[in-house]
Amino acid sequence: MQLQLQFIPLSEVRADWLIAGAWEDEELSGALRQLDDKLGGTLGRLRQKGDITGKAKELTTLLACTGVGAERLLVVGLGKRTAADRGAILEATATAARSITGKQRDRLAFALPENVPNLDLEEVAVAICAGVMQGAYGPGVRKSEPDRFVPGELCLVAPTGAPADRVQQGARRGEIEGRAVWTARELVNLPPCDLYPETFAQRAREVASALPGLECTILDEKQLEAERMGALLSVARGSDRPPRLVVLHYRHGKNGQTLGLVGKGVTFDSGGLSLKTTEQMLDMKCDMAGAAAVLGAMQAITELRLPVNVLGVLALVENLPSGKAMKLGDVLRARSGKTIEVLNTDAEGRLILADALAYAVDQKADHLVDLATLTGACVVALGTEVAGLMSNNEGWAARVLEAVRRAGEKAWQLPMFPHYAELIKSHVADIRNTGGTRYGGAISAAKFLEAFVGDVPWAHLDIAGPAWAEHESADHDAGGTGCFVRTLVELARGYGG
Ligand code: BES
Ligand code: MN
Ligand code: ZN
Repeated sequence: MQLQLQFIPLSEVRADWLIAGAWEDEELSGALRQLDDKLGGTLGRLRQKGDITGKAKELTTLLACTGVGAERLLVVGLGKRTAADRGAILEATATAARSITGKQRDRLAFALPENVPNLDLEEVAVAICAGVMQGAYGPGVRKSEPDRFVPGELCLVAPTGAPADRVQQGARRGEIEGRAVWTARELVNLPPCDLYPETFAQRAREVASALPGLECTILDEKQLEAERMGALLSVARGSDRPPRLVVLHYRHGKNGQTLGLVGKGVTFDSGGLSLKTTEQMLDMKCDMAGAAAVLGAMQAITELRLPVNVLGVLALVENLPSGKAMKLGDVLRARSGKTIEVLNTDAEGRLILADALAYAVDQKADHLVDLATLTGACVVALGTEVAGLMSNNEGWAARVLEAVRRAGEKAWQLPMFPHYAELIKSHVADIRNTGGTRYGGAISAAKFLEAFVGDVPWAHLDIAGPAWAEHESADHDAGGTGCFVRTLVELARGYGG
């Protein structure tokens, strides 16, 4: 997709589609009125008659426009101007893009909304660009006939006199973030027959070798053995596919601090001997969405040349039952030296993360974030669109939540009172891998992870809900969502110093 910027009146924009926003709490913008003059006042009449209300994600199409440069016009509702944030603009844009990218079109043009309170034009350009890319990307990774098309050209139309460098910078940021979201989504959407630990690791190597400044090391099962990753290896043992740990380094910071990002990468979660039902197993190719988000974020952070040091760790395994699979009652020795009693082989994510987090601590990460499709309990607590955030450090939790807000994503903090740790005490080992009750399941899982991060400020994002969309919605197709890639980029942006 070619990116272009233009600073011209909307009526002069040449495109297959011109997309412009309308606010709910305001009359049509000056730029739209200029366009409407050339259209004979159609938009004004539609507004007056209540067809164009400006309500969030409302779509009004005018096909076969005459008297203006664009062939077709799409007006998208942006909601209330006073309530607009990056998420609202991004979602409205993605909704618009989704509605017109079911057909191959060469050139789309988006009018940047002006005077958005709380957002400068650079942020608006980020949201529009990332939103178009989100809406132009579908899950059909194995379709013979594609049903979603990325436009050849995307033109952002800014008001004449707008600061060109800021708009340019925002468009570039949005494009990079959009491509990083594509990377994550594609990995989630690939079938588990093709995407398993070795091929995921290869993909990470490809991403890194295309980007100067991103180093990639892949540990195989022998090296994992040497690194004493007993918990991760025990999960992997049930599968014929060997595990991998991908270590990504991006070093560009001046203050010496390192941000560690750790992702759960279970390329398929059958539950192991604690086998899931067909219903529960159906979408379990998505269980590597945390690792996919970390890889996508590392890609964007490197492309943006952010002035930070970031360590990315992807823990890649397949969780299957077999004659070699770990059993209930087994006691594992984790990298940290702690012993873990396994009471449910379907609580595998926390086992691989225990070793991956300990590894990131040993690699001298100063702050940690892990992303994991960890518990169904988190989806029960918060629904399918909101991630749970749990942390051992309130200051760090606040910084991560601020990045979530800036990225326009959704997470909500859950408590980590000390008494929750009682749930995972074992009679035979240092800790056990389930709480033995469904109640508070997202938190007992986080308490387990907390035991492996030492004193390092750490935040855990349980993305079991938002990582995967069972159905399509206005602003995205069904399948992998690429959630929290943009949050991690925002976090890294604020981490520099
Ligand atoms: N990968 C699942 C969690 C999950 C559930 C992700 C639904 C996405 C959608 C995880 O490995 C798991 O199986 N968790 C168990 C934990 C339990 C055995 C303590 C769960 O949530 O049931
Ligand atoms: Mn599981
Ligand atoms: Zn899992």
